[in-house]
Amino acid sequence: MKPNPQAVRVCRLDDRQPGDGLLADALSGLSRSPKRLPSKYFYDARGSELFERICEQPEYYPTRTEIAIMRDHVGEIAAALGPDVRLVEYGSGSGLKTRLLLRNLESPVAYVPVEISRSALAESVAKLEREFPRIEMLPVCADFTQPIKLPRAARAPRQTVVYFPGSTLGNFAPDDALRLLREMRNEAGQGGGALPGGILIGIDLDKESAVLEAAYNDAAGVTAEFTLNLLVRMNHELGADFDLGAFRHRARWHPLAGRIETHIVSRREQDVHIDGRAFHFGAGEAMRVELSCKYTLEGFARFAARAGLRVAGVWTDPARQFSVQWLACE
Ligand code: TRP
Repeated sequence: MKPNPQAVRVCRLDDRQPGDGLLADALSGLSRSPKRLPSKYFYDARGSELFERICEQPEYYPTRTEIAIMRDHVGEIAAALGPDVRLVEYGSGSGLKTRLLLRNLESPVAYVPVEISRSALAESVAKLEREFPRIEMLPVCADFTQPIKLPRAARAPRQTVVYFPGSTLGNFAPDDALRLLREMRNEAGQGGGALPGGILIGIDLDKESAVLEAAYNDAAGVTAEFTLNLLVRMNHELGADFDLGAFRHRARWHPLAGRIETHIVSRREQDVHIDGRAFHFGAGEAMRVELSCKYTLEGFARFAARAGLRVAGVWTDPARQFSVQWLACE
């Protein structure tokens, strides 16, 4: 029997839908110079699907490498986290890595996925509920970049662990990444456990530019379609008039900043209208839509320390492409 996502009770924190800020953010982002748009709007139903397909592209090494690390070391990882964990996950997506973790944790008390895409959230929880009927499921449809109060578990946990895989932290500029780490640290500390808790995080590592640029420019063009879906979404939801053929995807490695920057580039000079306002694009003008920061192990340890977190475990693949790290609250 197929799981029925409609049957999943999703906790709503308030009456806002996560996509509600799109108009305000689009208008302000397009008024800036240089223009930019926040990447959280990638993840509508279509975008979440396209992202799953990115993860399967041969050039996109992070997902498969992170899964391999989890497979190879999940016993040790589960031992580091210990029994009776309340597991909170930010940006839970399809939940594949989560399943590996939940299967190996000792009597976890609850799973609290926080995900901006309602469809992705409902589908993954419907599956997890069937596989783990004894774990309390407390899905929350929300934007984790906003302050949120998450549900407590019915049974008292030993500690709360925030799971943040996928190197999603890399999609935040350093100041925002630090703020987010501190928030996750507070969440881990406030879950009602006896221990101070911690964060299990997937962090992509610095490497040769050719490998990095290929990962964000797959030959099949799925990443380009994913990026440009942002324009499709603005056309549908805001009545914007982006001419889809007149923009292209571009992702480049910036070695000094240590990050991939993804832009949507205007192929020609043109005007676009949203909500009665006109926005001018020059030929070749680029609008930034995503950052993917890559870290060294040492650099990330220093960064985590600034958020009051100590690296208590690091697992990598043999080629050291990606890392899964256990950050304990100090
Ligand atoms: N967290 C993913 C990453 O930075 C998200 C991602 C993958 C992405 N490919 C992308 C975001 C392309 C924007 C464009 O690796």
